[in-house]
Amino acid sequence: MTDESGFQLQGSAPGRYEQFAAPIMAPFIEAVLDTVDLFPGAQVLDLACGTGFVARAAAARVGPTGHVCAADINEGMLRIAAAKAPRMYPDIEFTQAPADSLPFEEAVFDVVLCQQGAQFFPDLDAALKEVARVLRPGGRIALTAWAPKERSPYFDAQYRVIEEYGTPEEAASLRQAFSCTADRLAAAFLAAGLRDGTVHLVTRNVVTPPLNDWVPGQMSAIPWTRSLQEAGPKALARASRTLCDLLVNHKAPDGTATFPFTTLLATATR
Ligand SMILES: C[S@@+](CC[C@H](N)C(=O)[O-])C[C@H]1O[C@@H](n2cnc3c(N)ncnc32)[C@H](O)[C@@H]1O
Repeated sequence: MTDESGFQLQGSAPGRYEQFAAPIMAPFIEAVLDTVDLFPGAQVLDLACGTGFVARAAAARVGPTGHVCAADINEGMLRIAAAKAPRMYPDIEFTQAPADSLPFEEAVFDVVLCQQGAQFFPDLDAALKEVARVLRPGGRIALTAWAPKERSPYFDAQYRVIEEYGTPEEAASLRQAFSCTADRLAAAFLAAGLRDGTVHLVTRNVVTPPLNDWVPGQMSAIPWTRSLQEAGPKALARASRTLCDLLVNHKAPDGTATFPFTTLLATATR
């Protein structure tokens, strides 16, 4: 694992990511698959697959005549992904690899998908060059990267909490997670030799489980609360309570909450 790669969860955190990130990620998965018209029989790479949300959905779409490979740099994420993958034919194939050095032959994939990974790559240009190398001519990439946090009230409030309770480095690292711009992505596509690049904003409403239960779990499944987790359960609980307080206006009588989340959705063709 390179030190510069972002969003590195350790220990039992990948298991919590699978549980607590699901509500946020779920509404965007279909948007990513639809934008490349994922078809039965396609050969697909889910890059920065994490615990495998996109890989599982892609495998269902490409069916028995297609195949999904999934790569991530983080061993713990891959362990959960492999455990959660449905047994099907052909199985999803999980590989530990950095985005800028993929262990695949040239021109083997019809589609590369990358949900909320690109903003964490230490070298986005090198990663997209690797994507271009492994895509067949005419193959397509679709990636998402969160829009500025001000467009997603949950993230905006979470940033304020990390700024107050976390270290300055954690707050700076969280800011970086929202720093990918349409211009940066378009330039990286061009530099990689990918054509017909498009970038647009996609907003989806996310309905969370009861906020008082879900927020502490979600807070324990992001890398920017590591110092709080190391300080002990009381520190994380206090920060989580503050976040719940900031979000109280979004709460329904049953304790659930609904928030808009906005991402950049970028596509290009080899
Ligand atoms: C926010 S998670 C997204 C995971 C997954 N795509 C999803 O939809 O839930 C970001 C992922 O990017 C991975 N990542 C970060 N830097 C990477 C790199 N250089 N190469 C490959 N994966 C990387 C992390 O390990 C993490 O699993």
